[in-house]
Amino acid sequence: MPVVLIAAALAVVGLARVRHNPEAPPAGGDAGAAGPAVSGVPDRQTLRDLMPPGVRIGSAVDGRGLSLDPAYRTLLGAEFNGITAENAMKWRNLEPAPGVHAWTGADQIIEFAQQHGQAVYGHTLVWHSDVPKWVSPDWPPERIRAVLREHVTTVVSRYRGRVWGWDVVNEVLDEDGTLRDTLWLRKLGPGYVADAFRWAHAADPAARLFINDYGVEGRTRKADALLQLVRELRRSGVPVDGVGFQSHLRWDQPPRDLVGNLRRFAQAGVSVAVTELDVRVALPATPAKLEQQAKLYRQVLRACLAVPACVSFTVWGFTDARSWIPGYHRGYGAACLFDDSLAPKPAHAALLDELRRQPPRSGTGPSPG
Ligand code: XIL
Repeated sequence: MPVVLIAAALAVVGLARVRHNPEAPPAGGDAGAAGPAVSGVPDRQTLRDLMPPGVRIGSAVDGRGLSLDPAYRTLLGAEFNGITAENAMKWRNLEPAPGVHAWTGADQIIEFAQQHGQAVYGHTLVWHSDVPKWVSPDWPPERIRAVLREHVTTVVSRYRGRVWGWDVVNEVLDEDGTLRDTLWLRKLGPGYVADAFRWAHAADPAARLFINDYGVEGRTRKADALLQLVRELRRSGVPVDGVGFQSHLRWDQPPRDLVGNLRRFAQAGVSVAVTELDVRVALPATPAKLEQQAKLYRQVLRACLAVPACVSFTVWGFTDARSWIPGYHRGYGAACLFDDSLAPKPAHAALLDELRRQPPRSGTGPSPG
């Protein structure tokens, strides 16, 4: 079937996916389909307008912003062609009681994405955090395994064809590169990682499956261990398609050899993605700090665009008004592209400028897959 027809068919069934087909029409091209002219849409080129084909620009989305703040919705739709649920798809929020699901928040995000031509990145299936309280560490391994499997299968099946990629496992490594001591590791042994990927793949064979972590952006010990883990998993036939680099960075600590690090993962045959970028500054935020921050945002975007296997670049929230940073990193804040009143910061200008400087791509999309 000609590529145009395939793309048209996907559009008809509402499948907004990252295009891995090098001949697919440019991702930036659907920016115009972001919806009718809405008041508040910036009267300038946006990030998604300028993003090269084959690479998504995404943001994590906050449920309250989405349901309560029209200006937030407008900017989210205008600037990004990818979206990640900041919290709505975490297990604790999805299944408050055994077998009782609360899908509304996640469904709203999927719907918003469909209306705005955005790809949904699913976050996250297996994590040591945000496990529902009813999952008891006192249960025997078989029971733990059964509920985990059921969770992965139910969620991935529900969103089959509507979520292009999943963080299947999140933060499975410790700082020293060993597997993190979690309920899953203690009860199920290291094989739970491979199992999770196999369950997710069985539930949606077309979804791209990622292993996601922090502290792995530069050439760290943890990054070395992650690379080794990915190689081992793939050698054993485990369907790991990609590695997510969270990228919660500090304005004064650029990662070491980001490009080289992304490249060595790409050489292992996987896609790479910047999944949760923010750049926190020590408060008070001064103009000088915000300039440094802008440089770092630019550096990460440039690195992603320099590596053909980099399929998406996602920020962890786009406005300081709703960022998780002040609540979790005492003394830090101002980590996002837009300020508290949704005005663009130097970091946003730096990304636009970086995108304008990119040489036009000759249809070479992300390599794997
Ligand atoms: C954070 C959210 O941003 C907060 O709103 C929530 O209270 C805690 O989780 N790594 C991850 C994300 O993978 O899920 C975390 O998100 C940030 C760190």
